[in-house]
Amino acid sequence: MESSKNLFIVNHPLIQDKLTRIRNHLTQKKDFKENLSEIATLMAYEVFKDIPLDEIEVETPITKVIGKTLTKTIILSPILRAGLGMTNGFEYVVPNAIISHVGLYRDEETLKPQKYFFKYPKNIKNISDALVFILDPMLATGGTADAAIKELKKVGFKNITLVSIVGAPVAIKKINHNHPDVKIFLAALDKKLNDDGYIVPGLGDAGDRIFGTK
Ligand code: URA
Repeated sequence: MESSKNLFIVNHPLIQDKLTRIRNHLTQKKDFKENLSEIATLMAYEVFKDIPLDEIEVETPITKVIGKTLTKTIILSPILRAGLGMTNGFEYVVPNAIISHVGLYRDEETLKPQKYFFKYPKNIKNISDALVFILDPMLATGGTADAAIKELKKVGFKNITLVSIVGAPVAIKKINHNHPDVKIFLAALDKKLNDDGYIVPGLGDAGDRIFGTK
């Protein structure tokens, strides 16, 4: 894994192979969706590498032993709609994670992201202690991720990590600047955005390719 400041590139060979498959414009919906979800699972291995564990005594068939266990509240926060494509992949390894959807659209006039849906657990004991993982496959301008982080912080979340598959340098700069406390995990840092706001080389519109709406 490569890292610099708050950016971590999870470039495992299995991830690179699957990323090449989803970059290919010939890859159809089923394979696109499956490979994207598998990349999310493989990334989760690194994303969760340093999460704190508690100790617990359990009894094996032979004797008692102190084991380590995950007691922190884990929240997966997919940004609608493309973030849904990564959710199953993460849930596969943290099945008890709470799913807190964030819906944002871009206002045609102001071009600013507007919230239309945000459902988060209001009854968790210590909101500032929960670990939140924002999921959005494409980190292009960073505008949507920035808005999602702000919404989550507004209600009291403090431990926020952003997980995307492909990112552009401009977005990394924006998130690092606005949220120096937020770690960013990517499978690849691509070159730039084109005039239409797509990541180059990227993989096209992730939402359209996941849901077949192209
Ligand atoms: N959103 C996408 O789905 N793809 C891009 O390249 C940029 C934003």
